[in-house]
Amino acid sequence: MVQDVNPGTILMGAQLRLLPPSLPFRFFLAAAVFHFFFWVTIGFSYEDVAGFTGGPGPILSAIHVLTLGVFAMTIMGAASQLTPVATGLAHRSLWPTQAAWWLFLPGTLIFFTGLNLSDRWIMHGGGMLAGLALLIFGFSLADLLRRSKKLKIPVRFAWLSLVSLLALVILGLLLLEDFVHGFLPDHQAIATSHLILAVFGFMGMLLMGFSNILVPMFALSKSPPACNQQIALWLAPTGLFLAVAGVMANVEELIAVAVLAGLLSVLLHIQGMLWCLKTGMRKNLGLSFVVVKAGWIMLVVSLIAGGLQAFDRLGEQGPALFGAIILIGWLMTFLLGILQRIVPFLAAMNMSKKTKKPPRLSELGDETTLKSHAICHGLAFVLVTGGIAMDQSLPILIGAVIGGIGAVLFAWYIVSVARSFMAYHQDVDAVPAPTESES
Ligand code: HEM
Repeated sequence: MVQDVNPGTILMGAQLRLLPPSLPFRFFLAAAVFHFFFWVTIGFSYEDVAGFTGGPGPILSAIHVLTLGVFAMTIMGAASQLTPVATGLAHRSLWPTQAAWWLFLPGTLIFFTGLNLSDRWIMHGGGMLAGLALLIFGFSLADLLRRSKKLKIPVRFAWLSLVSLLALVILGLLLLEDFVHGFLPDHQAIATSHLILAVFGFMGMLLMGFSNILVPMFALSKSPPACNQQIALWLAPTGLFLAVAGVMANVEELIAVAVLAGLLSVLLHIQGMLWCLKTGMRKNLGLSFVVVKAGWIMLVVSLIAGGLQAFDRLGEQGPALFGAIILIGWLMTFLLGILQRIVPFLAAMNMSKKTKKPPRLSELGDETTLKSHAICHGLAFVLVTGGIAMDQSLPILIGAVIGGIGAVLFAWYIVSVARSFMAYHQDVDAVPAPTESES
C-alpha cells in the first residue's frame, strides 16, 4: 500500500506558497537565541539540576526556555511555512501567525522570569500569554489541516498533536494555579501528564507527521509504505492515552503497556524513515541527518527510560535523568538536526530569482560551525546526563559551558544563512531584470 501523495512532487509550485521569509525566520532566530539562554540558565543553576523533582524556580524556568523557547518556536516557524507547502493550501490570512509571534515572544519571556522568581502574577501573566499564542498557532494550523484533502497520515498525526497541545496548555495553567491555591488532588500526576502530553503528544506526534513529509522530500524518495505508518498512527495515540491514564490512576501496568505501544509505533515510524533514506535518490544528506538519526536513537532510549522511571528503576535522580534524556537527548538533538536542514532549504527557496542563480545549499552558511556544534552538543549531553546519574554538579556545569559554546556556533550558522540571503537580494535588486527580448 502506498501513501496518497509523493512528497517529491510537493516542491512543484511550492514557491507560490512561501510566506514572507521574515515570518518563519524570526521564529528560527529566536529558537537559536533561546538555545543559548537554556545553557546559560542551566550553567547558573547547575547545583540544582540533579535533584530536580518539579516545582517553580530556575530549573522549571530552564525547562520552559528549552521547550517553549527552542522547541515550540521551531515548530511554530516550521509548521506555519511547511504546512502550506505540503498541503498546497495558502493560509487564509497571515495575522494569526503574526499575532502568535507577537504574543509568544513577550509571553515566554515573562513566563520564564515568573518561574525563575517564583512570582505568582508574573508566572500567570506570562503563562497565559504564551498559552494563548500557542492556541492561536494551533487554530491556524487546524484551519489548513481541515481543508487538506491529501497527505492523510501526516495530517492525522498533526491533529493528534493539536489535541495534545490544547490539553497540555490547560493542564499547564491548572498547575500554575495549583502552586498558589493547592486545589489539585494529585499535583505530581497532573505535572507528569502535562509532560507526557507536551513531549510525546504535541511534539512527538507533530514530528512523526512532518517527518513523513520532510524525510522523503529531502531524500527524494517516495513516501514510506503506508501500512506500517498506519499501524504507527494507531499505536502512538493508544500509547499516549494509556500513559496518561496509567499516571492519573497510578497503575504501573498501564504505563508498561503504553511504553510498549509507543516503542512499537516509534520503531515502525523509524523503519519507514530509514526506508526513505535507503530508497531515495539523494544519498548524501550531510551532517543534519547524522544528527537526526542520533535523535531517532534517543527517542527509543527516551521511551525505555520513561518505562524504567515509571517502575522507579532510574534511581534517586530518576526524574532529572529522564528529563535530560527526553529533552536534551531526543528533542533537542532531533529538532536542531531538522532546523539546520530547513533553514538553508527555505532560504534557498526564497532566493530563486531569474536574474541571479541562487547559491548551493552548502554555500549558504558556514557549515564548519555545524560540525563543531554537533560535537559540543553530544559532549554537553553526555556530561549533563553523566553528572545527573552520578549526582555530581561539576560535570553539569562543564556540560552547560560546552553546550553554550555549541549554541553560539549554531546561532552563528543561522546568522550566516541570513547574511547570504540578504546579500543575494541586495545583488538581485542592484541588477535590472532582463527584458523579454534578452530572456
Ligand atoms: C503555556 C504553556 C505551558 C504552561 C503554562 C506550562 C506550565 C507548567 C508548569 C506549571 C509546570 C510545573 C509542574 C510542576 O513541577 O509542578 C510544568 C512542567 C513541565 N512542563 Fe510545562 N507548561 C507549558 C508548556 C510546555 C511545553 C510546550 C512543554 C514541552 C514541549 C512543557 C514541558 C514541561 C516539562 C518537561 C515539565 C516538567 C514536568 C515535571 O516536573 O514532571 N511545558 N509546565
